[in-house]
Amino acid sequence: MTAPLAGLSDAELASYPTVYRHDLFVGRRVLVTGGGSGLGKAMAWLFGRLGAKVLIAARRPEQLEAAAAPMRDAGLAIETALCNIRDPASVEALFAGPVAVGGGIDILINNAGGQYPQDAIDLSAKGWSAVIDTNLNGTWSMMQAAARAWRHDGRGGSIVNIVTVVDRGMPGIAHTCASRAGVIGLVKTVAVEWCAYDIRVNCVAPGAIATEGMRVYSEEARKSYLRSNPMLRFGDAMDVAEASVYLAGPSGKYITGEVLTVDGGGRYWGEFWAIPRPKYFDPT
Ligand code: ADE
Repeated sequence: MTAPLAGLSDAELASYPTVYRHDLFVGRRVLVTGGGSGLGKAMAWLFGRLGAKVLIAARRPEQLEAAAAPMRDAGLAIETALCNIRDPASVEALFAGPVAVGGGIDILINNAGGQYPQDAIDLSAKGWSAVIDTNLNGTWSMMQAAARAWRHDGRGGSIVNIVTVVDRGMPGIAHTCASRAGVIGLVKTVAVEWCAYDIRVNCVAPGAIATEGMRVYSEEARKSYLRSNPMLRFGDAMDVAEASVYLAGPSGKYITGEVLTVDGGGRYWGEFWAIPRPKYFDPT
């Protein structure tokens, strides 16, 4: 068995059982970046099902509308906005426009990101910068813009950044590992600074989760991911969505600066290679 190349369907996301109360986020507005697919889409579904007004931001208009349509059909309160988090002007426009116009947000789910597998020694300067610009700089632009808006409005808020499990590095995706480790360092820092503004900041670190994002990996890499956790299976996007709700919502009210790992125990066991494992490591 390898990872399915698609995540949960819209029908599954609409009906997947959840432990949370159906009206938990009534009166709350949640911004989800990268909400057009994968984990972001699952989180948009779950917050919407729990009564939130959800503003989904993504770079690609077709994907954004295709994700939003089934949620609206299911009666959820979904808005969409185009944003490229890599571009500080686009982030500024998102907060000055759709965020402000709708009365601000209460929760930011900073999920947008991307990476591609390659040996670190062969990463190009352009490829390195692209991943760092999105996953670290873009995530930071969003965090800072949300915090400034909350400070301006004299109210607090909650941020959840979706990162990865960086404890033992990630052979084959050094750029994303570096950027996510940077985000975790940032979170531990501003968690303290931003208590003064009643802002909580946390991370969810998914391990081997079955989403369409798995397509960037070869079959061999996906098999390696499957064997990299002691449950010997993939988690699904709702595992990550429910963890994010826990930290973002009232259940997380005394939690800040935390990284909640959702990896089936993978960080204590096994190894994951995003690229072919060099022969050097084969048993002799
Ligand atoms: N998803 C992946 N990369 C993104 C970006 N730069 N902006 C918004 N969503 C994204």
